[in-house]
Amino acid sequence: MEKTLVIIKPDGVDRKLVGEIIGRYERKGFRIIAAKMLSAERITLADHYEEHIGRPYFEELISYMVEGRLMVMAVEGENAIEIVRMMNGHKDPKQALPGTIRGDFAHSITKNIIHASDSKETAEREIRIWFPELI
Ligand code: PPS
Repeated sequence: MEKTLVIIKPDGVDRKLVGEIIGRYERKGFRIIAAKMLSAERITLADHYEEHIGRPYFEELISYMVEGRLMVMAVEGENAIEIVRMMNGHKDPKQALPGTIRGDFAHSITKNIIHASDSKETAEREIRIWFPELI
């Protein structure tokens, strides 16, 4: 069993897509083992996105992520890390396929609805940030 960290970003929460997104993961057979709705501090988001510090989009990404509420979840299941990323779709909505969350709902590379960990190491690091009690 793998655990991955998923964040429904402010546009996903504002557009009332929380139930739709959780439903997709559950119907796939994954379990939501922890979840919380919150407004995040910049410092927590800088920690979460630490490998993007210095990239040209970093400031815009953090400003967008602090502007609304986030639904943060730990999702568990077999091959959850890779499969959840596949279900989310490409980060650039122009390349995201229909049937994926971003392909169906996103318009912008910044406001792209959803985040999920991209590797085992990242999942562990991100779960430690948001749900230290699970580690
Ligand atoms: S990269 O380009 O390989 O480093 O991209 P990746 O590791 O997949 O994630 C980049 C995250 O930053 C968000 N973002 C952008 N990426 C690229 N270009 C622009 N302009 C941009 N704006 C925001 C992107 O959605 C990824 O967010 P997460 O939450 O990790 O999916």
